[in-house]
Amino acid sequence: MKKILITGATGQIGSELTPALRDRYGGTNIVAAGYRRVPDPELAEAGPFCRLDVRDAAALREIVTAHGIDTIFHLASLLSAVAEDKPQLAWDVNMNGLWNVLEVARSTNCSVFFPSSIGAFGPLTPPDNTPQDTIQHPNTMYGITKVSGELLCDYYHTKFGLDTRGVRYPGLISSKTPPGGGTTDYAVEIFHAALAGRHYDCYLAADTRLDMMYMPDAIQAAISLMEADAAKLVHRNAYNVTAMSFAPRDLAAEISRHVPGFTIDYRVDPLRQAIAESWPRHMDDSAARREWGWRPAYDMPDMVQDMLFQLSGAEEAGPGAGHAT
Ligand code: SER
Repeated sequence: MKKILITGATGQIGSELTPALRDRYGGTNIVAAGYRRVPDPELAEAGPFCRLDVRDAAALREIVTAHGIDTIFHLASLLSAVAEDKPQLAWDVNMNGLWNVLEVARSTNCSVFFPSSIGAFGPLTPPDNTPQDTIQHPNTMYGITKVSGELLCDYYHTKFGLDTRGVRYPGLISSKTPPGGGTTDYAVEIFHAALAGRHYDCYLAADTRLDMMYMPDAIQAAISLMEADAAKLVHRNAYNVTAMSFAPRDLAAEISRHVPGFTIDYRVDPLRQAIAESWPRHMDDSAARREWGWRPAYDMPDMVQDMLFQLSGAEEAGPGAGHAT
C-alpha cells in the first residue's frame, strides 16, 4: 500500500482510519473522500481531501488515476436502520458504489478493502459461535447489500485476480464519531447520556446480546488484513471478527460502576429490535486469528473505561488497559 483512497472518510470508521493510515504511510499518500459531512479541519488539512459520491463512477476514476491510487478502503455505505427506511437508496449507494470501486480497481489493479458486517447474517444463521462459513440469508436490505458485496468481492478475486479483502465487523463503538442510523448505535449513545447525567431510554431490549468492538481494534483489523501475506488468506471476503459480546443490561451495569446513579429504561423500537434479533450473538473469529493473526486488544471493561476517559477526560477513569493503535 503506497497510495490509498478512503471512501466514506468522514463516516464512523473513516474518521479514525484516515488519521491512522496517515500516521503509518504519510499524510500525502492518503486521499480522503467524503460525501456529505463537512470534514474536521484536522482531516482536511493533514492530507488530500475531496468530495465524492461513490455512485459517480467517472469522478471516482478521476481521483484514482489523478493520485495514482493502488489501494482503496471502500467505507461509504448506509447503515442498517437507515437502509431499512430507504431500501432503494441503500441498494443504490451500497451496491452501485461497490460496483464502481471494483470496476475502477479492476482496470487500475488496486487492492480493495470492503467492510461487511454481522448484518450479513440472518435469522437462520446459528447465533452462537457463528461459523465463518454458514447459512447467511439476511432479511434486511443492509444485510442483502453486505452479503452481495462479499460475493461480488470474491467474484472479482477469482475471476479477475483482484486483491479484495474484507471483515464482518460487529457493532462498532467510538468516542470520536457517532455512527448514525445503525442498530448497534445504542452502545455509543448510552455513554453520552451517562456522562451528561441524563437518563437513557434504550431502543433494544435489556437482554439483546450482540457482538461488539471498540474502534481502535476495528482500525487495527482493517490495516492488519490489508498488510497480511496474501498467500495465507483462504477466506478473504469476509472474515468474522469480534472482540466482545454483551447485552444493553451488561453495558449499563458496567457504566454504572463508573457513573453512580446512571439510570436506564428499555423502550423497544420494533424495527431495530427485529434487526438485532436476526444477527449473531457471538461469532467464531478463529479463521481471522489463524490466517492473519487477528487479536483484539479491548474487552468490554477496558472499552468502557477508555470510552469514559476519552469522552470526559475524567481523572478517575484513567486510560484503558488495551494497547491497540
Ligand atoms: N453497526 C452496524 C449497524 O448497526 C452493523 O454493521 O447497522
